[in-house]
Amino acid sequence: MGKIVQSVEWNNDRLILLDQTQLPAQTVYIELTEIVDVWEAIHTLKVRGAPAIGMAAAYGLYLGVRDSKEHEDDFLLSLEKKAAYLTTARPTAVNLCWAIERLLNRAYQETALGSQLPKIKAALLEEALFIQLEDEEACRNIGEHALTLFKDDMGILTHCNAGSLATAKYGTATAPFYLAKARGWHLKVFAGETRPVLQGARLTAWELQQADIDVTLLCDNMAAMVMAKGWIQAVIVGTDRVAANGDTANKIGTYGLALLAKAHNIPFYVAAPTSSIDLQTMSGLDIPIEERPIEEVAAVLGKRTAPEGIKIYNPAFDVTPYHLITAFITEKGIVHPDQHGQYNLPIHPLLQKK
Ligand code: MRU
Repeated sequence: MGKIVQSVEWNNDRLILLDQTQLPAQTVYIELTEIVDVWEAIHTLKVRGAPAIGMAAAYGLYLGVRDSKEHEDDFLLSLEKKAAYLTTARPTAVNLCWAIERLLNRAYQETALGSQLPKIKAALLEEALFIQLEDEEACRNIGEHALTLFKDDMGILTHCNAGSLATAKYGTATAPFYLAKARGWHLKVFAGETRPVLQGARLTAWELQQADIDVTLLCDNMAAMVMAKGWIQAVIVGTDRVAANGDTANKIGTYGLALLAKAHNIPFYVAAPTSSIDLQTMSGLDIPIEERPIEEVAAVLGKRTAPEGIKIYNPAFDVTPYHLITAFITEKGIVHPDQHGQYNLPIHPLLQKK
């Protein structure tokens, strides 16, 4: 087995990120020590993928307050301000707010216990490290559950980057590929090239190749053809946010794939760590969808490919309605719709808070 690439690391009191804007041409690591640099790294896609964004934001919040000398009450106020600032970096992936909220709650708990500033700060860093550790375990468990749905030799289509680069390790949708490889299975993975900025080609295909996984890169508009040829036995994608009814935001093009899978009678799975399930958001209509700069569509590799002045629409995500989703694969187990085809995630036993 080749290597499983990792993109986020806390080392020597700084946040180390594999700069995803430079892949696959160059493997460059950047070291961040300031909250503004973390905001910028998230905003400009140097770090991307819902869980990785959450992890980076957690470390970023700690970096934002670690030198603070304020009194505990003022400290909490400025922590909240910095938390609110970080959540503006990107709108769709709920993991960003989820991770920030975890750190805020930890600070409130410590303050309620009467902890002094150094202890509160240490607790914040500890919480950020926990988030990363838990994410790695969640991804591995998603992979284990997903493998119960797959068989050796299957052809599996994935879209977006829901890989190791987008998480602590293994990825969500890609975790079964890594685990299958370690088990000696031969899955044939197909990856769409995926906008924005060709993340499927530049990131997913690259990281699977690094791990010696059998991956074939497709343009997004080839999916129907390869399904019709019988090459695909399952589709698995990641998610940036699952609403309470099961509607799922993921990388633009996911909705189309779900429709194609249905038309070809192919199961369509969403690999969803519970950190991406947002029970406060009722349906896909309430999920904020990021729109990105039009230059990303107007030019390829810095060269203009669309006419000057043309109107361009560039949403980064779309929403797949719950009824097109065969099952959610979470770290706690597989969630199927009920007998009426509904998901009812807030009352699902696997997703109940202990
Ligand atoms: O624009 P990105 O790279 O942040 O979008 C990431 C995705 O496409 C999602 O699939 C991802 O967040 C799922 S997470 C493993």
